[in-house]
Amino acid sequence: MVGKSKKEGTLAKSFRTLVVSYSRTGLTKKVADLVAEQLGAEKIEEVSESVRRIGWLGYLRSAWEASVETTPLIQSPQFDPAEFDVVVLAAPVWMSKLASPMRTYLVKMERRLPRIAFIVTEGGSGGHRVLQQMRELCHKMPLTELVITEDEIRKSPVTRVKAFCEKLASQYEKEVRPIAVSVKKAVP
Ligand SMILES: Cc1cc2nc3c(=O)[nH]c(=O)nc-3n(C[C@H](O)[C@H](O)[C@H](O)COP(=O)(O)O)c2cc1C
Repeated sequence: MVGKSKKEGTLAKSFRTLVVSYSRTGLTKKVADLVAEQLGAEKIEEVSESVRRIGWLGYLRSAWEASVETTPLIQSPQFDPAEFDVVVLAAPVWMSKLASPMRTYLVKMERRLPRIAFIVTEGGSGGHRVLQQMRELCHKMPLTELVITEDEIRKSPVTRVKAFCEKLASQYEKEVRPIAVSVKKAVP
């Protein structure tokens, strides 16, 4: 988990961002780190477990858990999402389902989530189904969403990540600014 200053981000922002990611082999983490850098996210939370998922056994266990939609034990999150304006949630596709550790995180933290945005990484299919599962688990619509493939992440994810961050910032402004204006007008 890394703390970063708001000023490091390349987008001018008026909101505090937490990036929460789960990554088994590092690809989702690479995207999450880029997003945090672009947005100048204040904190990064990596969903972690005491059990490791390496090798074939780890792969099979992961495939089974995702298929039956179980919620494995994860370590207690370090940050409270309710203390942020926006939480970006990033996870891989497993068997066309949400990776099980992120399922646990969403089930645990759903009530504490402010405005949200989703990133899903995939080999080549299932990402859009996983976005739908995330919407259902969070019980709300995200500001924006991104499905990105392994190939894109390995070659050059920057353009798509930048577009995602810009959309997130503009959607946030659209949702928040009218409220700020109407509150100001109501004050005598
Ligand atoms: C158990 C398991 C099941 C997977 N199932 C799918 C799948 O259904 N569709 C797909 O496109 N990729 C699938 N993948 C590939 C991952 O989604 C992809 O490699 C992802 O970018 C890995 O992210 P990570 O490096 O952050 O763990 C699967 C990977 C694992 C480990």
